[in-house]
Amino acid sequence: TPVRRQDYTAPAYWIRSVELTFDLDPGKTIVTSRLVIERNLDTPPQPLKLQGEDITLLRVQANGESVSFRHEPGLLVIDNPPGDNFTLDIRNTCCPDKNTQLSGLFSSDSGLFTQCEAEGFRRITYFLDRPDVMAVYTVTLRADKKRYPVLLSNGNLLEQGPLDNGRHYAKWHDPFRKPSYLFALVAADLVAREQLIRTRSGRDHLLQVYVRRGDLDKTEHAMNSLIASIIWDEARFKLPLDLERFMIVAVGDFNMGAMENKGLNIFNTKYVLASPATATDTDFMGVESVVGHEYFHNWTGNRITCRDWFQLSLKEGLTVFRDQEFSMDMAGGPSARAVKRIDDVRGLRQVQFPEDAGPMAHPVRPDEYQAINNFYTATVYEKGAEVVRMMQTLVGREGFERGMTLYFQRHDGFAVTCDDFAQAIADANPGSMLSTRLETFKRWYAQAGTPHVEARGRYDAEQRRYVLTLSQWSSPSAQQPVKLPYVIPVVMGLVGPEGQALTLQLEGEYGHSGTERVIVIDDERLELVFVNVDVPPVPSLLRGFSAPVRLDDGLSDADLLTLLRHDSDAFNRWEAGQRLALSRMLAAVPGAAPAVLDDALVDALRAVLRDPSLDPAFKELVLTLPTERYVAEQLDTSDPQRIHAVHQALQAQLAERLHDDWAWAFEHHQVTEGYRPDSEQSGRRALANRALGMLVRHAVATGDAVWPGKAYGRFKEAANMTDRLGALAALVDAHAELAAPALERFHTLFKDEALVIDKWFALQAGAPETADGRVFTRVKALLKHPDFSLKNPNRARSLVFSFMNNPAAFHRSDAAGYALWAELVIEIDAANPQLASRLARLMERWRRLAEPWQSAAREALARVAAKPNLSDDTREVVSRALES
Ligand code: ARG
Ligand code: ZN
Repeated sequence: TPVRRQDYTAPAYWIRSVELTFDLDPGKTIVTSRLVIERNLDTPPQPLKLQGEDITLLRVQANGESVSFRHEPGLLVIDNPPGDNFTLDIRNTCCPDKNTQLSGLFSSDSGLFTQCEAEGFRRITYFLDRPDVMAVYTVTLRADKKRYPVLLSNGNLLEQGPLDNGRHYAKWHDPFRKPSYLFALVAADLVAREQLIRTRSGRDHLLQVYVRRGDLDKTEHAMNSLIASIIWDEARFKLPLDLERFMIVAVGDFNMGAMENKGLNIFNTKYVLASPATATDTDFMGVESVVGHEYFHNWTGNRITCRDWFQLSLKEGLTVFRDQEFSMDMAGGPSARAVKRIDDVRGLRQVQFPEDAGPMAHPVRPDEYQAINNFYTATVYEKGAEVVRMMQTLVGREGFERGMTLYFQRHDGFAVTCDDFAQAIADANPGSMLSTRLETFKRWYAQAGTPHVEARGRYDAEQRRYVLTLSQWSSPSAQQPVKLPYVIPVVMGLVGPEGQALTLQLEGEYGHSGTERVIVIDDERLELVFVNVDVPPVPSLLRGFSAPVRLDDGLSDADLLTLLRHDSDAFNRWEAGQRLALSRMLAAVPGAAPAVLDDALVDALRAVLRDPSLDPAFKELVLTLPTERYVAEQLDTSDPQRIHAVHQALQAQLAERLHDDWAWAFEHHQVTEGYRPDSEQSGRRALANRALGMLVRHAVATGDAVWPGKAYGRFKEAANMTDRLGALAALVDAHAELAAPALERFHTLFKDEALVIDKWFALQAGAPETADGRVFTRVKALLKHPDFSLKNPNRARSLVFSFMNNPAAFHRSDAAGYALWAELVIEIDAANPQLASRLARLMERWRRLAEPWQSAAREALARVAAKPNLSDDTREVVSRALES
């Protein structure tokens, strides 16, 4: 039975404080909990129902005396608590070693760790495990000193010392009230990089990054990122670090990226560990953005939290927006900012748009769920961030900062809703484009699906007028048959034929001289009349991707070429190039005409590549074709093999037609100075590595041996992982003979570096598939490799998810890819439902597949659905997919 947003009621009891004592043991941990409970007098008297899952109750007492209780599924019920104020003492056990779900208290090689969001605390002890119940925690940890020398929990260390039998203890106190999902503990054999800092307020803070002994040399970047995050949040939003101690702990077994537990962030090693020899530029960026994300949660999530899980985007959308802004500010100038924006939008369109059009579609603030863990989605996170970004666009950057200040004035220390946030931003900006239409704007939270915007322009040379008509529509969905218009901010400019930015003066307006402005669509249709337009303009709409919509602007190739050459908005320049390439691909997919890169497009791409005023990172993005997955998303029915063939054909032409330019790009973008993971150096490396890939591809096609040889040499000699992996990828993608020894050598070099071995699996599973099914055969073999394990989520993702995200390898006409999918979903589900349901989701777009894939996919889904004892998580995904 689903949980519904409308059924929210305030808790019947509050828990004011919690004293927890853990006798930690991987086989059997004893948890003692003393809860100070107060009845919520705003609700009618009723039984106290505490949640508990996979734990064993030993004893329960109220006010120090026995109290009668009973069990309901997942609940401990006390029908007659002794009055409105009482203490409850609970003692129970849990088993970290058997906790393969990695939710609650679980074991990893280096020790014991917790993950409580969203509902993992109930797997540790009985509790009101909901975010609107906030308590002060005092935690005592007791464990074997040799095996678990480090004992951590939230807040400040009160005392620590030895105990009998080789055990020791530590006592922690967190002065901030928090919901149970922010509780954390760590008992492990770790070491820390430490840094003392003094913030603007003059307060001193201790920063620590805990990792396994051998990994200390890979923590500098995480520490630097943490310091940069602290400085940034104080400068941009005046939000200071409120803790004496801030800890980050890395663990190798983790379902997600990281978790923002108050003062004790727990991270997947992937987002902490980075050294030039073992991590790529992309990994370094990932560390910076996730460290920032979790740190920013300290205010947006922890100080102000969510009233219920339907409000998840309150903290996630806002915090993703904040980490995106942080990364942009860290990247530097306008061009580097645009590169980050393009990256983010690429992700949004490739993951969130399909989600919004498929069976798992839901509003940013969902209305119901079966398994809350299924709603940590691209819609809640990334589309949620776009909704916040639109608010900033509508009230301006300073207005948004004022809104944030008001939000904290009103709600600091409380559990609130998405409405509260939007209201604060609007109220801080009376008369703004947001506050005058707040109710309409909030449809972004309530309606699922991606709106369509159509734009058509008409130029009248005689009257020197340009009339632009904008209209919007949204497709109905099962839950929402009628959709109302959205508030859509369209940042726009008009570009003249020579690339000049035209002044935007609307009819009836005087003295307007800007060349870019924000237009707001808030109804089905809007007509704009621009006057004093001397030349026929090309509209550049939705600059910086100012709203998460699908835009049809009807521009001709000539118009798009003008934008690609001249638009002052880097995002739209990139977008124009992508659209030109996309239209070539879409034209060739039906198979009637071969895929051709025409001269005009090749020349325009060459001009970008050779333009000395553009950043290499931007060039690399412009010269990257839309992915096969993105092409498939543009079609109602897709044939993955056909799309792959077209993609490969265009890649080959790009390699051939720009051959000399690629050679030039490779030679001229070498980084000879010491490694820095900044946007300048990483841009050069990205372009050089793309060029190398193209050169090897072309060499293989023409039988030339020079570039493959160079790639092998570079692979061997590379001074950093970005270049080493770049060269290896060039070989794996195109040159089977050299790829084999290179892969072997790579494995030998890095056999003790788990995160690098993940790359080794991922690279092979993600390689372009060939007619003889080389990739699939390789994946089947790798599943049996001694280094492979489904138990470790990073490793499972590296091989299994990479393969299933590789369309041509996965979507085989003999359905063997789907059979493997079904088998693995079932196997993983028995141990780790969260991981299994993520894998299950890779099949949710099955309806869009052409035959024979569609029927085969349905059969595979039905096979999984027929399995009894499937977890709620996986069950929700497969049944929604089958019902679609
Ligand atoms: N709050 C964490 C973050 O975004 C992620 C938690 C994910 N939890 C889950 N059950 N999937 O930083
Ligand atoms: Zn988050």
